[in-house]
Amino acid sequence: MAKAITIFGSTGNLMYKKIIPAIDSLYNQNLIEEDTKIYCIARRDCTLQDYIEDAKNYVKEDVDWERLEEKFTYILFDINDGDHYKKLKSRMEKDAIDDVFFYLAVPPRLFPIISKKISQSKLITKEDENKRIVFEKPFGEDLESAKSINKNLWQYFKEEQIYRIDHYLGKEMIQNILVIRFANKLFASGWNNQSIESISVVAKEKEGVMTRGGYYDTIGALKDMFQSHLLQMMALITMDHPTNFTSSAIKDAKVKMFKQLKIKEDDLFLGQYEGYLNEEKVDSNSTTETFVYLKGYIDNERLKGVPIHFLTGKKLDEKRSEIVVHFKDDKTLLDNFENVKPKNNKLIIRVAPEEGVHFQFNIKESGLENIIKQASLEYCHTCNALTNSPEAYEKLLLDLLNQTKTLFTRWDEIESTWEIVETIKHKHIKPYVYSSYEELISKLKNQCEVDCYDL
Ligand code: BG6
Repeated sequence: MAKAITIFGSTGNLMYKKIIPAIDSLYNQNLIEEDTKIYCIARRDCTLQDYIEDAKNYVKEDVDWERLEEKFTYILFDINDGDHYKKLKSRMEKDAIDDVFFYLAVPPRLFPIISKKISQSKLITKEDENKRIVFEKPFGEDLESAKSINKNLWQYFKEEQIYRIDHYLGKEMIQNILVIRFANKLFASGWNNQSIESISVVAKEKEGVMTRGGYYDTIGALKDMFQSHLLQMMALITMDHPTNFTSSAIKDAKVKMFKQLKIKEDDLFLGQYEGYLNEEKVDSNSTTETFVYLKGYIDNERLKGVPIHFLTGKKLDEKRSEIVVHFKDDKTLLDNFENVKPKNNKLIIRVAPEEGVHFQFNIKESGLENIIKQASLEYCHTCNALTNSPEAYEKLLLDLLNQTKTLFTRWDEIESTWEIVETIKHKHIKPYVYSSYEELISKLKNQCEVDCYDL
């Protein structure tokens, strides 16, 4: 009996940019069994050779095309036609596949029809332990649509068979957050409002919407980035020690944080980059935000009063995703030391493009005088690794093959993050049009109480 990966949307961006390079890399590391079949499903009428030739134009990485051609089966498919699902089923039976996941790398509006037909054709039944279905984000466009998609899915599949991707969870340093926090006593014991002054969760991008204007214009930064990636980062950095480190205990602890997060309405700031209205498939009068800043608080005893700053946007000064934990000042040393004040400790978890940890602390300067200066410890996650640090999608595909669910989102995570977004009344705010990051930040600081430093 063999395994299979089945990808709907095999001629799409995600397949070329992420899935093919990830599959190739897993083969390089012998992490995919030799007899695993890879069914590439799409509606283009072409041969496998044509498919591969075309894919070469889009895949930037240097992958082993000969090997992929050997492993791939290209299947011309009409997702509305039940017969195509039946044929796929016969083919899988012929190939003796008993362990498979169906990856929907397609726009969310196609989720309902494909899921329904997969179920009707019995490609997956609720009894199949080794068959699963995978959804890319966004999972819905708001709470209502997410609920309706999910209700449908639960008719056809068991929650254990459903894998919802938030690719940030597959990133090395995001996986590292719980280790940094809970495997280091230094941090574990001081993770509260006695020690922490503020937390910043940041995902800045340099690129604009590129070819995704049609999708993005209906969604905006708040739903595209905050509802998923930023809130996941927030939950991991704030959550209580889970009862254990199983997938479900971690998810329980995250959901608790989502429920306890309260957004401060007055400190919401939206921006739109200059030129956005001229992007392909963007409405010329669009008020969709491409930048969002907001502030929230965790409503529990441990973190009460610690502001959490969220910032994300496109066409900013740099590509940078990170979490910054600003610790409180300790002024007690001031009497003994002249001229300089100790600065707050600062812990930065660098998620992208560099991966690592930076810790800023105070030290007495060498010499006879009592002068404090700032020093830092820098850990580069990629520098000392024997191989390149794996891409998020490699890890996610591997976990899909092995049926490991920790890095996939459970329904109540999705539901509670959409609930947070519902409380944010952003629709009536006209975004500020920005042409540079400096200008944007100075406007933001004028308008909102941004009580943290280096955003
Ligand atoms: C996606 C968003 O989920 O994440 C994109 O839809 C965004 O708009 C992307 O560009 C950012 O991911 P990464 O891995 O490049 O930081």
